[in-house]
Amino acid sequence: MQPYRPGKTPEQLMQELGLDELIKLSANENPLGASPRAKEAILHHLDKIHLYPDGNCTVLRDALSQFHNLPRSYFAFGNGSDELIHLFGVAYLEPEDELIMAHPSFVRYEASAQLNQAVLTRIPLTPDFRHDLNAMAEAITERTKLLYIANPNNPTGTIVYREELERFLQRIPDHVLVILDEAYFEYADHPDYPHGLDYVRAGRNVVVLRTFSKAYGLAGLRVGYAVARSELLDPVERVREPFNVNTLAQVAAAAALRDAEHIDRTRAFNRAGLEYLQAACERLGLRAVPSQANFLLIEVGCECARIQKRLLERGVLVRTGEAFGMPTFLRVNTGTPEQNERFIEALQYALHE
Ligand SMILES: Cc1ncc(COP(=O)(O)O)c(C=O)c1O
Repeated sequence: MQPYRPGKTPEQLMQELGLDELIKLSANENPLGASPRAKEAILHHLDKIHLYPDGNCTVLRDALSQFHNLPRSYFAFGNGSDELIHLFGVAYLEPEDELIMAHPSFVRYEASAQLNQAVLTRIPLTPDFRHDLNAMAEAITERTKLLYIANPNNPTGTIVYREELERFLQRIPDHVLVILDEAYFEYADHPDYPHGLDYVRAGRNVVVLRTFSKAYGLAGLRVGYAVARSELLDPVERVREPFNVNTLAQVAAAAALRDAEHIDRTRAFNRAGLEYLQAACERLGLRAVPSQANFLLIEVGCECARIQKRLLERGVLVRTGEAFGMPTFLRVNTGTPEQNERFIEALQYALHE
């Protein structure tokens, strides 16, 4: 396996490049930060951090059970949804089993196949950068255990539609667990965007993954959750570490969940940001994939590593497409209005120098 290679920290980059400020638009974080309620909850619990966390995430579990109107036993928690992806692999995959995913899609699914010596089947996206659900269903064999659909997809921001997902689910045999990764759920507003929890409620072999890292603005605390019938979560509960979600993450997530206003504001900022970036790309003659997430995949028409370097010189950090096999694309998340403008100014400079 290849180790995960962390990028340089913003502080290191600023020092190296002599920058006073760095606008980080590379990791799909929330530019508005966390909910003030989450910060308050953390302050209230600072005098508890010498104690081990609640290994059952009781407060967060109760809050989510109420929020989604589902039994408490339908939730499992991870140190970010990254950890849940890891745990589903460990719990479900034996050597020679198969994991199906789209390509490009979220890279951690691949690592979970490799770690467990499973066979990875990657199904290319359609020409309009969407999951090819027919091809994914056709790739299923008797050894297929896990099938991932990131909806919206990272790095494209595209979605699968309700009707095609329902047709697809009808074709899925019982031995396959379909994992709908809804890390960007809160941003999707397309009328045909399917809500994975509807299929959990209908008793399907479906797991929904959600995270507090994106719209909820808690990426640094690491908390994500899986929702499914409890018997589907049982294998994950067996292999997880007892204290995998820390105390501050648990209380902050429960408080953030109650702050609907912060999520509404986040959504409105994102929608305006996407519209601004889309229009600016059009003006610059660049193609941007229509997005239902909080980021935009932009085709720059040349090696994007060069463009990324120039953007950095202007104090803007974005993600290059090389990591997911799209070397002429870059992925940028929406920032505040000022940050979006700074990015477009820097992009103009980077393209035309
Ligand atoms: C599709 C998708 N799933 C899961 C994650 C992991 O999120 P976290 O581990 O922060 O919950 C990400 C993060 O970028 C993502 O894009």
